[in-house]
Amino acid sequence: MQQNRDGFSSRFGVIAAAAGSAIGLGNIWRFPYVLGENGGGAFFLIYLAFIVLLGIPLMLTEMSIGRAGQRNTYGSFRNLAPKSKWYFIGIMGVVGAYMILSFYSAVAGWTLQYLYDAVVNNFANKNSADLVSMYETFTSSSFMPVVWTLVFLFLTGLVVVAGIEKGIEKYTKILMPLLFVIIVVLDIRAVSLDGAEEGLSFLFNPDFSKISSKVVLEALGQAFFSLSLGMGTIITYGSYIDKKEKLFSSAVSVSLADTAIAVLAGVAIFPAVFAFGIEPDSGPGLVFITLPNVFQQMPGGYFFSIIFFFLLVIAALTSSISLLEVIVAYFAEELNMTRAKATMVSFISVGVLGVLCALSFGPMSKVTLFGFTIFQLFDYVASNILLPVGGMLIVFFAGWVWARSRFKQEIIGESKENGLFKIFMFIIKFVAPFAIALVFLNAVGLLKF
Ligand code: PHE
Repeated sequence: MQQNRDGFSSRFGVIAAAAGSAIGLGNIWRFPYVLGENGGGAFFLIYLAFIVLLGIPLMLTEMSIGRAGQRNTYGSFRNLAPKSKWYFIGIMGVVGAYMILSFYSAVAGWTLQYLYDAVVNNFANKNSADLVSMYETFTSSSFMPVVWTLVFLFLTGLVVVAGIEKGIEKYTKILMPLLFVIIVVLDIRAVSLDGAEEGLSFLFNPDFSKISSKVVLEALGQAFFSLSLGMGTIITYGSYIDKKEKLFSSAVSVSLADTAIAVLAGVAIFPAVFAFGIEPDSGPGLVFITLPNVFQQMPGGYFFSIIFFFLLVIAALTSSISLLEVIVAYFAEELNMTRAKATMVSFISVGVLGVLCALSFGPMSKVTLFGFTIFQLFDYVASNILLPVGGMLIVFFAGWVWARSRFKQEIIGESKENGLFKIFMFIIKFVAPFAIALVFLNAVGLLKF
């Protein structure tokens, strides 16, 4: 039975919501730290190549599947391929959403603390060493990180309960462009720091000796993570897109906006990393240590730091609602829960996992599996295994299982197949699934190049 489904009300609403999902901690927190750990410029180039070659086509595919399937990820595959097991992709997506939302909420919780620190002017007169110890003391404590994680998840739940239009759309439209402006201001300050060149060169001068199969997989994982691909977020959002919308231009605009924010974040962070003598591979704390340094070096830094952390919280929120939406839409549509109940159940279950992630830097830092803390395990498994494998299955499904005519219908409607569409189909059938498989198998050691 088809329920009366919520939808996005305008063209800008679609792009804003999908961009809201894509743009988040992935761009500003995860991109710089993963790039820093993977040697810089060479990683960056591979990342860009993956965005263009695999990311944009996959985004278009996910939007098409969702809009044709008219349901949550699981239900969309059930609708498009009844009597088959493809819905398994949907289940993987829900599992992925659980893992990502858990560690994501923990980091978003840190962002809330940093917003508070900005307001009470806690960064004032602190040098790099002080900021490192401030970060470490906070993240390793056992109380506030937990409280903030739950506060953040609670906020996420509130927006999701309100429904798609009224909740998600309203907030993203105004605040994302503002985030863009603030980062550009930060960039201007960062590139004029003494010693900025070294940071820019770290980011933009590829050192190809740094490339390994692990670096390539992490670049792929980061590309999918940043674009919210490979786990059904964009399928779920696609199901709310009006049939009149042109998916191609939406997918391209969202991917470009997301990539631009990541690059601008990199330009704000790496010059400062080198100028203040921070190690580029310092890990998840990188932004939290670097940017407070920059704020201190700029006129109006106090106000900018407040606005920046506020917007970062909002950017995280527009992403976390898209993650929670994957879970809630599944519970509500497949398990027949009311939206409110589905949100409650998700809040509690993700909350437990989120707390474990928040404690992974302190009291639970010794609890490890394969040498990973719970936080690292969720981050690694979701980004570097579930998203690539999920993305590969999605493009494979779209290229080889789904009827070409129905796929075409979503992308160019009744028009005759044009050159662009043919190239796109070629990528979906022959390039994307195999490229992802190669990257993956090579990194896990099942294939050797
Ligand atoms: N893309 C989001 C970000 O960059 C994170 C995300 C990943 C959201 C996967 C949804 C699905 O912050």
